[in-house]
Amino acid sequence: MKNSLKIIIGLIHVLLAIAILQLLVQPVTAAPPDLPNNSCADCHRKLIFTSEEQRQFVDIRIKHLESGISCSIVCHEDKLNKSIASTYAMWSVSTHALFDVTCEKCHGGDPLAITKEDAHIGVSKIKIARANTPESCGKCHEPELDEFKNSEHFKKLESGEEGPAPACITCHQAHSVRVLTSSEIEDFCSNCHNRITGIDPAVPKKAEEALSSIKELQVEISKARGAIISAKASGKDVTTAEDELEAARAILKHIPSVWHRFNLTFFETEVTEGIEDARRAQNIMAEMPAASPPVKAPGFEVILLISCLLIAYFLKKR
Ligand code: HEC
Ligand code: HEC
Ligand code: HEC
Ligand code: HEC
Ligand code: HEC
Repeated sequence: MKNSLKIIIGLIHVLLAIAILQLLVQPVTAAPPDLPNNSCADCHRKLIFTSEEQRQFVDIRIKHLESGISCSIVCHEDKLNKSIASTYAMWSVSTHALFDVTCEKCHGGDPLAITKEDAHIGVSKIKIARANTPESCGKCHEPELDEFKNSEHFKKLESGEEGPAPACITCHQAHSVRVLTSSEIEDFCSNCHNRITGIDPAVPKKAEEALSSIKELQVEISKARGAIISAKASGKDVTTAEDELEAARAILKHIPSVWHRFNLTFFETEVTEGIEDARRAQNIMAEMPAASPPVKAPGFEVILLISCLLIAYFLKKR
């Protein structure tokens, strides 16, 4: 009896250790994306770095990305994007690789062809030209494109005037498709928005605050959710509060696309509205008088008691 208990406890420990080990090892040994029938990815994966300098750049870039530093327009981007090997390296660890957004979806060409010459037929430089990326990325990211078309950034890009304006890949990069976080935003936007260029230098600080406000919206939504769940458990009518919560959730859902209008006042109005919806849901729940206690499922305590007795009986019998 004692020994078998020891064995069971030992087994549990071993299983736990294996589970923890697996968690630790997985990110390191993660297999490259499994893409049958895609010669672009297959061949480009094998391309070697053409120079030691390029290899070093790629290493630096990957380290930057891993530690959350954005390699922006002022960094070594040009050199890197032009390095054939780095494009595969960046792409293979991106969200796009995870979702099967393979090379030919953006570059064209024939991913079933075996030779380089055949595969490259139809690979076009026009689609990936910076100023064309809103349209080509927008094929799959329509809500972002629709909002982006209302932005000063888009107008400037379209005008073809001299001077910098960000396209999709300026902020997301072509292959890593990183999403800047609110703590990276201030540094990043000030690449262009600063006193030297004269392009609205107040933007970076405001943008950081605007993006951070999303967290507040998330917090208020989860508070409202909690309030509704406990009100429901005590038998209150939660329909109106649920409507308010739904409205707040809808705003949270479309906020990443609204961001691309690059109208910070509009953005803040939207987030504030969401926060107010969520707070209204909380208030409705707080102000509602307690309903009569719900009818409890009868017999639960009895079942628990019987189970305990049964377990005790079996343990003793052994
Ligand atoms: C059998 C190997 C092979 C296959 C298959 C292949 N490529 Fe390439 N690709 C290369 C090599 C090598 C280069 C380096 C430049 C060169 O020599 O043309 C290259 C260069 C490129 C470039 C850089 C621009 C250029 O024309 O120089 C792009 C973009 C590209 N490939 C996209 C693709 C896409 C998209 C596919 C699939 C439809 C694909 N490749 C399939 C070997 C391949
Ligand atoms: C989401 C769209 C997208 C996907 C997917 C994508 N690329 Fe690209 N790629 C681009 C864009 C946009 C550029 C131009 C970058 C720039 O101008 O800075 C580019 C540039 C390149 C270049 C440099 C081309 C040149 O003419 O200088 C190569 C090489 C390349 N990509 C290869 C690949 C390979 C190989 C894959 C798949 C492993 C891939 N790309 C997947 C959008 C994409
Ligand atoms: C063939 C369709 C397709 C094209 C073209 C495409 N994407 Fe995507 N993209 C996806 C899918 C699918 C996802 C993953 C699911 C999602 O977030 O919607 C994604 C995700 C993203 C994300 C979120 C990444 C994350 O980690 O959350 C960004 C940013 C992005 N894409 C930017 C771009 C940019 C920039 C371009 C153009 C250079 C582009 N996409 C072109 C399909 C596409
Ligand atoms: C490559 C340069 C560049 C980058 C990077 C850039 N912008 Fe801009 N931005 C511009 C230009 C150019 C305009 C148009 C200014 C004008 O016409 O006066 C603009 C206008 C704006 C405007 C609207 C006008 C205003 O003054 O309020 C907002 C908001 C804005 N940018 C936000 C951002 C945010 C947020 C970021 C960082 C995520 C960013 N920008 C990054 C170049 C850039
Ligand atoms: C000036 C910088 C900038 C430009 C230009 C830009 N984005 Fe973004 N994008 C961001 C930021 C910052 C976020 C994160 C917003 C948030 O947290 O709500 C984002 C979020 C996204 C997401 C959603 C990721 C998610 O978590 O759901 C997609 C997809 C995306 N962008 C695609 C695009 C496409 C397509 C374009 C071009 C039409 C584009 N972006 C242009 C900065 C930019």
